[in-house]
Amino acid sequence: MDTVTVKDKRFRLSISADELHRAIGQVAAAITADYAGRRPLFLAVLNGSFMFAADLLRLVPLPCEIAFVKLSSYAGTHTTGHVRQLIGLDRDIGGRDVIVVEDIVDTGLTMQHLLGRLQAMRPKSVSVCTLLLKPGKLQVPLDVRYAALQIPNDFIVGYGLDYDGLGRNLPQIYTLVP
Ligand code: PRP
Repeated sequence: MDTVTVKDKRFRLSISADELHRAIGQVAAAITADYAGRRPLFLAVLNGSFMFAADLLRLVPLPCEIAFVKLSSYAGTHTTGHVRQLIGLDRDIGGRDVIVVEDIVDTGLTMQHLLGRLQAMRPKSVSVCTLLLKPGKLQVPLDVRYAALQIPNDFIVGYGLDYDGLGRNLPQIYTLVP
């Protein structure tokens, strides 16, 4: 399928399943080498990362654990705007080697916030692993150790990423047709 319609918009194929598999394989190999002899804890950030996390972990033959967290956002009653709360973290990450798994780092604000929360829990180390990075959108300095693919600032959908809640189940990534 070269083009798909999600809700009311048309998207064209931009990153094929083969390209995704290759890029994820490279990241998995780098993590496997870097964490040899350790037992990392992968923290996958829901919802978008579910597909990437599943495919990535299949390719990492290390003894490791995975947990899923979510950043709920709700409108604050004050002018502070959105307050984000970390939910679902069901274990102590103190002293652990943590690898945060995201589908996309866009402005970087979500990751910056999350890293602040995690650092307060005194892990041994924290690194960031994202499937997609939009360097042109990054608003904050962020050390993204593993980025499978760098992409332009287009609106994309598929492989975990949604448009209005839809399209996450597409096995490839599609770009909005202007
Ligand atoms: C997406 C993505 C990241 C965040 C990146 O999540 O999964 O968490 O946006 O954007 P940023 O770098 O500009 O902060 P979203 O809030 O859309 O939730 P979802 O994962 O449930 O789709």
